[in-house]
Amino acid sequence: MLRAKTAVLVSGGGTNLQALLDAQNSGIIKSAEITLVISNNAGAYALTRAEKAGVKSMCISKKELKTQEAFEDAIINALEENGIDLIVLAGFMSILSERFTSRYDHRILNIHPSLIPSFCGQGYYGLKVHEAALKKGVKVTGATVHFVNEIPDGGEIIAQKAVYVEDGDTPETLQKRVMEQAEWIILPQSVEKIAEQIIK
Ligand code: GAR
Repeated sequence: MLRAKTAVLVSGGGTNLQALLDAQNSGIIKSAEITLVISNNAGAYALTRAEKAGVKSMCISKKELKTQEAFEDAIINALEENGIDLIVLAGFMSILSERFTSRYDHRILNIHPSLIPSFCGQGYYGLKVHEAALKKGVKVTGATVHFVNEIPDGGEIIAQKAVYVEDGDTPETLQKRVMEQAEWIILPQSVEKIAEQIIK
């Protein structure tokens, strides 16, 4: 295997997807090739980013498929049809069941916008994570890349990077700093690290 065929699962803006595409172009990612983008939301700007980069993309909607099982089966079919080796959850706002995660043991990475085990697990996603960090009054937060297992945000940690909270931060300003100073750096680095291990 020359490069690990990688699928990126998204739901929204897709800035982490963009960081991965940019890292591929700049050579930071050389052991993985992003060949598929799957969104669970048809309106996600991440789909436009994939299209602009010439990467195959599709929407798989849980609403339309009705059950978790049918939703996951449709994702599995897309992954198998495209010969995917590595799956990256980059702002994917849907929890995957054990039936799905156990099938891809140590093959699914997730980026979470806090230093796990703080502010993580069910209900902690997107801006809610930063709202909780500000409410608690922590002075340092950050981001974590981890393997995905059946426990939300509970899989083995691959990388973490700390970011300072500043006086006057809002959830939005903190989110932006955590993305710029941590997420967009450690996600591409982690994808390269794990893809390199897979192709060996
Ligand atoms: C990112 O901050 C990501 O860490 C977070 O959602 C945002 C998605 O932004 N993910 C989670 O909270 C997952 N629990 P993006 O669509 O611009 O990459």
